This record gives sequence, C-alpha cells and structure tokens, in this order.
Amino acid sequence: MLESTFRSGLLAGKNAFVAGGTSGINLGIAEAFARYGARVAVMSRNQLKVDDAITHLSQWDKRAIGYVADVRDYAAVERALQNFHTNAGEIDLVVSGAAGNFLAPAAEMSANAFRTVVEIDLLGTFNVLRAAYALLRKPGASLISISAPQSTIVSYGQVHAAAAKAGVDMVTRSLAVEWGADGIRVNAIVPGPIDGMEGMARLAPTPAARKAVRASCPLGKFGNTEDVAGLALFLASDAGRYMTGTVTYCDGGQVLTMAGTLTPAAVKRMLASEG
Ligand code: HXC
Repeated sequence: MLESTFRSGLLAGKNAFVAGGTSGINLGIAEAFARYGARVAVMSRNQLKVDDAITHLSQWDKRAIGYVADVRDYAAVERALQNFHTNAGEIDLVVSGAAGNFLAPAAEMSANAFRTVVEIDLLGTFNVLRAAYALLRKPGASLISISAPQSTIVSYGQVHAAAAKAGVDMVTRSLAVEWGADGIRVNAIVPGPIDGMEGMARLAPTPAARKAVRASCPLGKFGNTEDVAGLALFLASDAGRYMTGTVTYCDGGQVLTMAGTLTPAAVKRMLASEG
C-alpha cells in the first residue's frame, strides 16, 4: 500500500509549470520538484531572472525551460503554457506564485497602486490556472496557489495585498469545487515569515521588526524556502492525493498569534527607514 505512494523519484514523469518560479519561494518549489524527478518550466517578467533560474534548475533537470511573461497578460501566459505542453506533454503540476507587494497606508495609496497588486496576485492567479486548464492531465493534475497571511490577518499598509490574497484563497476553493470532477486538485499554501525573501525585507526591514517576527512564531524562528517546498511536494505528489480546496499555513504557527498585524506606528517607522 505505502509503496505505491512513497517511492523514490516521487515526481518522476511529471511536468511542472511554476509561475513566478525564478526567485524566492517559487524557485525553491521548482527546485524541489526538479530534485524529485519532475520536468520543470518557470515563468516571470524578467529575462535575466529566467536565465539565472534555468542555469540553477539545470543541475537537476537538463530540460528545464523558462518563459518571459507577465501574469497580468492572459495571452502571454497562455502562450507559455501551450509551448510547455507542446514540448513536454500534459501538465501535471502548476504553481501560481507570482506576486507584488509594498507597504502603503490606504489613505496614501493610489487606485492604480491598489489595482496593480490585485492584478498581479489575484487576476494573475486566475489567468495562470485558467489558461492551464485545457492542458492539464485529467485526472491527476495538482494546482497550488501561493497565498499570504494577509488573506486572513489585517495588517496596516496592506489593504491591496489583503484583498488580493483573500481572493486567491477563494479562487483556490472555487476551482477545487468546479474541477474536482475532472480529477484536478487545487490547494493554497500560506507561507509565513520566510527569511531572505524580498517580501520579508519589505515588511520587516529593521532588526527590531525581525525580532518581533521571531517572537510572534510559536516555533521562535523564521522559515526558509525548503520549509515551503516540503509542503508543496506533499500537495503535488500522491502523498496529498485526497487533499483539495485546502488553504494551509506553513508559518511556524504564527497565524495562531495573529501577529501579522503591523501597527500604524510600526509602518511609519519602516517607511521612514526605507528613505
Ligand atoms: C505606494 C506604490 C509603491 C509604493 C509602486 N506603487 N510602489 N505606491 N508605495 N512603495 C504604485 C505606483 O506609484 C503606481 O501607481 C502603481 O503602484 C504601479 O506601479 P508600477 O511600478 O508602475 O507597477 P509595476 O511596474 O507593475 O510594478 C509592480 C509593483 C512592484 C508590485 C508595484 O513593486 C513590483 O514589480 N514588485 C515585484 C517584486 C515584489 O513586489 N516583490 C515582493 C513580492 S513579495 P501610480 O498611481 O503612481 O500610477 C510578495 C509576498 C508578500 O508579494 C505577500 C503579501 C501579499
């Protein structure tokens, strides 16, 4: 019984497409997928980042392939997915992780700034998963969206990210319901404070802020990209085959303390320290 699930080469023969997979958490996930035998494709807006990611991923997947596209551009996303499908065949795994964020109190945020983050995070997630649908292995495909603590915990200066990521959670659940009959699973990961990430540097840029973040986690420490990749591996593989529609925290327990909340004073200090 266990042998059918927990074999070596956990993802051997699987084709994985990771949007936003050229850096940070998403690159960590793409690397984990490649290390466990998947054929991987990554996509982001920046050609240099795509090139660097492919050089890195080629250590484990000689056929790793990269695409330059903005997740806000449905036609470009569709072209990238179709090209991967033509090259590799039916797509087994899709990660929608492209995101943008910055600290800005609502009263100082332009409508365009709000729209920009909602379009990258929320519309981008819909675009990636929707464009993948026709190209997925059915049954068997596993889709993963990357959410954020902001989807449930209010943080000052994060109205755009909160709205976008709450939407990502509901897109995930909605698609799990609609596509379950096709044998497609759809789950979300909520990474907590992951060290070394651009987003973390933006949201906790000072030693005092980092200390507060550590103290807010029951496990008392930041996570790393490998921690998140472990959850992604579980959701992607047969080990997670009865999981769909979940929104799962990988955060050292931080959500339990509701400590994502940034106070107005803390945000003012951080914005000042950014110059
Ligand atoms: C206030 C800002 C701003 C800031 C941009 N804007 N940065 N407003 N404070 N710090 C406003 C601009 O003034 C503009 O509005 C609008 O946002 C669009 O800005 P553009 O630069 O034209 O947009 P674009 O080039 O598409 O860049 C998107 C971006 C940018 C999100 C604004 O920061 C980006 O590309 N980021 C990608 C990298 C990133 O964010 N990494 C962190 C990801 S971590 P006006 O009105 O002036 O036209 C992450 C995980 C955290 O997201 C999880 C929480 C969700």
